[in-house]
Amino acid sequence: MKVLNFGSLNLDYVYSVDHMVTPGETLASYGMNVFCGGKGLNQSIALAKAGVTVYHAGMIGEEGDILLKTCRDGGVKADYIRKIEGRSGHTIIQVDKTGQNCILLYGGANQSITKEYVDEVLAHFEKGDILLLQNEVNMLDYIIDSAYEKGLMIILNPSPYNSALDRCDFNKISMFLLNEIEGAQVTGEEDTDKILAKLKEIYPDAKVVLTLGGDGSVYQYKEEICRQGIFKVKAVDTTAAGDTFTGYFISSIIEGMSVPAGLELAARASAIAVSREGATASIPLKEEVLNTEL
Ligand code: RIB
Repeated sequence: MKVLNFGSLNLDYVYSVDHMVTPGETLASYGMNVFCGGKGLNQSIALAKAGVTVYHAGMIGEEGDILLKTCRDGGVKADYIRKIEGRSGHTIIQVDKTGQNCILLYGGANQSITKEYVDEVLAHFEKGDILLLQNEVNMLDYIIDSAYEKGLMIILNPSPYNSALDRCDFNKISMFLLNEIEGAQVTGEEDTDKILAKLKEIYPDAKVVLTLGGDGSVYQYKEEICRQGIFKVKAVDTTAAGDTFTGYFISSIIEGMSVPAGLELAARASAIAVSREGATASIPLKEEVLNTEL
């Protein structure tokens, strides 16, 4: 069984700010860094650091060699990543004093996926393999349809939520990993229990992991419910915390761990990611996750 993550690779331009800039305001930042990120790349790195062999597919632009290097250095199989003319995806991220962030996303090369490229990548995978997706690349609907036809098990993190997801057939998704805001956008409900109930009603065969920020996370599959709290740490930068959780939780399934153990592992890994700067740079190795007292 192979694992493919078809997702974004971004250069994150991260600015430390006193507060998030407001309309009409010019705000001086007091620190700036460039990190490698993108929900796709972050989740691949998290999977690899958790010990999973993961193939990443996606596109980078002319200045994107550092993204490729980060992938390879992080232990991700990068042979399917294609370099094209133009810019890579990038973000402008503000991180405030409490570690919260605001992200402005430019799709760049991530939005240049073609049907031919999707077909070419999927030709290397077969029934029973796992496909992980987020919503920072174009052609998501085509990727889902093609992978489903081949019998891949599809896991979707519908983030960021936008109208491109309306074209996707969510009935083909085996597992959703999403936060409360995305859960509300998918279901039209606000309350956690109602979001879970609605997801079960409309996608009865899908497993769901709903992350609830400071309130932890909930796993739901049919009548089974499992809850996990957070490990409290001093938040330095929350960027990629959700991606770390996603990668680590998926790794626990691949390794055959129980759901409670998987949720705890993922919560531990994301707590460590929150305690340091950057996206891929903040994701811990499994050894560290297992040996850090939280
Ligand atoms: O989830 C965090 C990621 O979202 C960042 O690394 C940024 O690139 C955006 O895609």
